[in-house]
Amino acid sequence: MEHSETMSFMEVFKKMKRLRLFEPAIGVLGFFFVTVSIIFCLFLLNYRSEPKGLIFSIQNEKFLWLRFDGVHGNESRKNANILPENNDVCNIFEGDWVWDESYPLYQSKDCRFLDEGFRCTENGRPDLFYPKWRWQPKNCNLPRFDAKIMLEKLQNKRLVFVGDSIGRNQWESLLCMLSSAVSNKDSIYEVNGNPITKHKGFLIFKFTEYNCTVEYYRAPFLVLQSRPPANVPPEIKTSLKLDQMDWSSSKWKDADMIVFNTGHWWNQEKTIRGGCFFQEGSEVKMEMRVEDAYRKSLETVVEWMHHELNTTKTQVFFRTYSPVHFRGGDWKSGGTCHLETLPELGSSLVSSHTWARYSIFSKVISEYSNISDLRAFDVLNVTHMSSRRKDGHSSLYYMGPKIGPAPLYRQDCSHWCLPGVPDAWNELLYALFLKREVTRTSNSSTFSAQV
Ligand SMILES: *[C@@H]1O[C@H](CO)[C@@H](O)[C@H](O)[C@H]1NC(C)=O
Ligand SMILES: *[C@@H]1O[C@H](CO)[C@@H](O)[C@H](O)[C@H]1NC(C)=O
Ligand SMILES: *[C@@H]1O[C@H](CO)[C@@H](O)[C@H](O)[C@H]1NC(C)=O
Ligand SMILES: *[C@@H]1O[C@H](CO)[C@@H](O)[C@H](O)[C@H]1NC(C)=O
Ligand SMILES: *[C@@H]1O[C@H](CO)[C@@H](O)[C@H](O)[C@H]1NC(C)=O
Ligand SMILES: *[C@@H]1O[C@H](CO)[C@@H](O)[C@H](O)[C@H]1NC(C)=O
Repeated sequence: MEHSETMSFMEVFKKMKRLRLFEPAIGVLGFFFVTVSIIFCLFLLNYRSEPKGLIFSIQNEKFLWLRFDGVHGNESRKNANILPENNDVCNIFEGDWVWDESYPLYQSKDCRFLDEGFRCTENGRPDLFYPKWRWQPKNCNLPRFDAKIMLEKLQNKRLVFVGDSIGRNQWESLLCMLSSAVSNKDSIYEVNGNPITKHKGFLIFKFTEYNCTVEYYRAPFLVLQSRPPANVPPEIKTSLKLDQMDWSSSKWKDADMIVFNTGHWWNQEKTIRGGCFFQEGSEVKMEMRVEDAYRKSLETVVEWMHHELNTTKTQVFFRTYSPVHFRGGDWKSGGTCHLETLPELGSSLVSSHTWARYSIFSKVISEYSNISDLRAFDVLNVTHMSSRRKDGHSSLYYMGPKIGPAPLYRQDCSHWCLPGVPDAWNELLYALFLKREVTRTSNSSTFSAQV
């Protein structure tokens, strides 16, 4: 029953697609209509919004929108650099999502390094705007992502992502972004011959021409999950050693760049309710709350960076929590996001869960700002910017084109469609990476990204 419904949906969709080929005028008209509606919405938003800063940024947006003719993408980037004007300090994480005709940076059908689950358009997502937004910092411009430059700078190096499946989301985005500059796609391969499929411990892609690898290690907690000590109560199936790094850390501690992320597994569901308790030293702490365990694990990561990493060699990024946008429930109780087709251009509506994770991280980072080599690490502070992208999630379109959209009550409002929001994170990663290269070679400290 469900199956036939999805089939017929796919058939209708295919017919629509076929029709569209023969009637481009309808497509153009439709596009025009939606564009006008969006501009209208922006006006409405402008009248309704109260905070001062917001009005400014939306007016700014409107200005850009009215010049929406494809030129703007180019023009505003004429002096594209990450150096702020007027020597102001530029916070690249503060800004707006602006429409840009020249986006996305790649098409999912041209990139074979993507899980089926992220290929939303190929899986039947009907709206086409979500990949067309570019992140524009308020006081400076980002360099346009140049895969060739990045690959040249990564020559003979290892770039490693460590974290949960949202980290994998970002890693796959970067593989697509980088591979767009490589003409012989067969020269990019997984060193152990493993395919891109879910739930492998790690995957290492090599770009032969540049002798560099872009790697992903699955470590959703970053700290070690393993067997509990002997003679503990039987409800303890596994334990998280809050004072030890994940087993894979020996494999990536010598990498040239590490991008960490964590957060989505730090909840009751994925720990205590599943028989996974928290351990410090040899003691299992039955009463410890998830929030406290999360904070302790972050402290372990920070201490580990301080003691184990050669920060002259290894550039570390820590990506902050990626927001989820379930409305009216969560992933298992029918929460939805499939009707969202536009970013939130004003303030964002995000669950308290997101902010809780975010502020624990933020607190740990500021407490440890006394450690000098931590100033050498960059926070990829994506929580605020991404919280405005309720339109960016896979929602119903994560099941592959043959199966079709998922049932309405089983939505994915935490992973992101690709191309999409994680591409913007990687553009920020690129900007910080270039900035580091510049300061390394010239020791000019004009640019300092606030995080
Ligand atoms: C930007 O301008 C350059 C020439 O100045 C042109 O070659 C390029 O195609 C333009 N890019 C876009 C996205 O319009
Ligand atoms: C390739 O890069 C690795 C480091 O990732 C380095 O050890 C090795 O010497 C490089 N090979 C060549 C041929 O440069
Ligand atoms: C740290 O890395 C730098 C640059 O690769 C290297 O010159 C230095 O010897 C390393 N230090 C240690 C203690 O390994
Ligand atoms: C830095 O601060 C943390 C937490 O406040 C403290 O535990 C640590 O000992 C301090 N480290 C140094 C090097 O001062
Ligand atoms: C860069 O220059 C400043 C002042 O000129 C100096 O204090 C700092 O130690 C230099 N940093 C490096 C990495 O050379
Ligand atoms: C992250 O960026 C937001 C928005 O620019 C800012 O308000 C916040 O203080 C930043 N937090 C951290 C931990 O960098």
